[in-house]
Amino acid sequence: MTQSLSRRHFLAAGAGAASVWIPRPVKGYTAAEMREQAVNDRLEVGVSKWDLDTPCLCVDLDRLEANLDRMQTTVRRNGIASRPHAKTHKCPAIAQLQLAGGSVGICTAKISEAEVMSEYGIADILMTTVNVTPPKIRRAMQLRQRGAGFTQAVDTAANARDLSAAATEAGVVADIVVDIDPGGHRTGITAGAPALELAQLVDTLPGLRLRGLLCYDGGAQHVTGFADRRRRALGSLEAAAETAVQMTRAGLDTGIFSGGGTGTYNIDHETSGLTDVQVGSYVFMDAQYLGIGGAENPEVYTDFETALTVLTTVLNAQYAGRATTDAGAKANTINRPWPIVAGETGMTYTAGSDEFGTIRYEADASRVYAVGDKLELIVSHCDPVVNLYDQIYGVRGETVEVVWPIAARGKSI
Ligand SMILES: Cc1ncc(COP(=O)(O)O)c(C=O)c1O
Repeated sequence: MTQSLSRRHFLAAGAGAASVWIPRPVKGYTAAEMREQAVNDRLEVGVSKWDLDTPCLCVDLDRLEANLDRMQTTVRRNGIASRPHAKTHKCPAIAQLQLAGGSVGICTAKISEAEVMSEYGIADILMTTVNVTPPKIRRAMQLRQRGAGFTQAVDTAANARDLSAAATEAGVVADIVVDIDPGGHRTGITAGAPALELAQLVDTLPGLRLRGLLCYDGGAQHVTGFADRRRRALGSLEAAAETAVQMTRAGLDTGIFSGGGTGTYNIDHETSGLTDVQVGSYVFMDAQYLGIGGAENPEVYTDFETALTVLTTVLNAQYAGRATTDAGAKANTINRPWPIVAGETGMTYTAGSDEFGTIRYEADASRVYAVGDKLELIVSHCDPVVNLYDQIYGVRGETVEVVWPIAARGKSI
C-alpha cells in the first residue's frame, strides 16, 4: 500500500504515552491497510537516527520535553497560561503533549489546521486568523456543528455580521475573540473605541458569543536584546489592556486575553488582564530565535533548546573545501540565517539549490565529510520547514522512539 503519511490518522493512547499510537480507520483505507502502515512505522522505531534515510526531520525528545516543561513552569509561575500555536508543529501528537502538560488550549492559523486538530480530538482551538471567505466561514460553522471547541478571531463589523448570519443558518453558536492591532497594522482592529464597539456588536449579534480578545505583536518577538524586546512588547500590548478594562466595565466577557509568543513568553504577563501566551517556536527553537538573546544570556537565546533538525546525507565530497548534501531549499526553505550544522564550528551550510545543500569548510573544521556521511542541520525557521515533511522522527539519544505524522502539513487554506 502506498499512501501519504499525512492521510493516516492516529490517536494518542493517552497523556504521557507519546510513543503509543492507535491507528484509526480513515475514509478510503481498509482496516488491513491501516494495520500494514502501522507496522511499517514500527519498523523505524528503535533504529538509530543515523540509519534513517534523508532528508528527514527529527526532534530530540529530551529537548522537546525540556522546552515544554520550561514554558509551563514559567507561565504558571507568572500567573498566566500557555495556549500554544500549532502552526509551528502542525502535529496533533505534540499538541496532545502540550495539553497534557497544562496548556489551556491550542491555536491554529488556518481553518484546515483547526479541522485536523479537531479530528484528532483536540477540544479547545483558537483560530488566530480571521475567516472572511464564504467557504472558510462555512467550514468554521461545520466545525461547531461537529461539536468542536472552536473560537475564531474577528476584526471588522462586516465579518462579525457574516459570521452571525452563517452561525444562525447553521444552527450553532460561534465563539469569537476580537483581534486587536498591536500597532503594526497587519491584522486586528484599532484598540480603544473601535475595538470596544466591535466587541459590543459581537455580543449582541445572534449566533455569536464573545469570549474575549487577542493581540499579537509578531514584530516584538524577534527584537534583539531582552530590555528592548520587553519595552516593545509591553508598549504594544498597552492599548489592548486598556480596551480589556473598557470591555469589562461594559459587562463584556474578557475571559480570554491572548497574546505573545516565544520571544516574549516571560514578559507578556506584566500586562494586566492578559490570560495566556500563544507560544509556537519554543517547542523546537530555530536559528532565527537563537540570535535574539535572552534575560539570562544576552548573547544567545538559551531559554529553550534547539530540538529540531534536518538530517541530510553527503552526496559529493570530491572538491576541496566543500561538500554537497541532499537537503536543499525543498528540505530547508531559503529562510535566513542559513541552518546551522549541529556540533560543527568552521562549517557553513547554504541551501545551494532546490535539491542540494552546500557545506563549506573553513580552516578550523573539526572534520571533513565523505560521501554517505550524515549530518544534522538546526533549521533556520521552524514553522515553514516542518510544513515540508509528512512525518517527524522523535529521537531519544540516538534512537528513534516514535514517528509522528505531521497531519496538518500543507494545510494552508
Ligand atoms: C498570531 C500568532 N500567535 C502566535 C505566534 C507564535 O509565535 P512564536 O513562534 O514566535 O512563538 C505566531 C507566529 O507567527 C502568530 O502569528
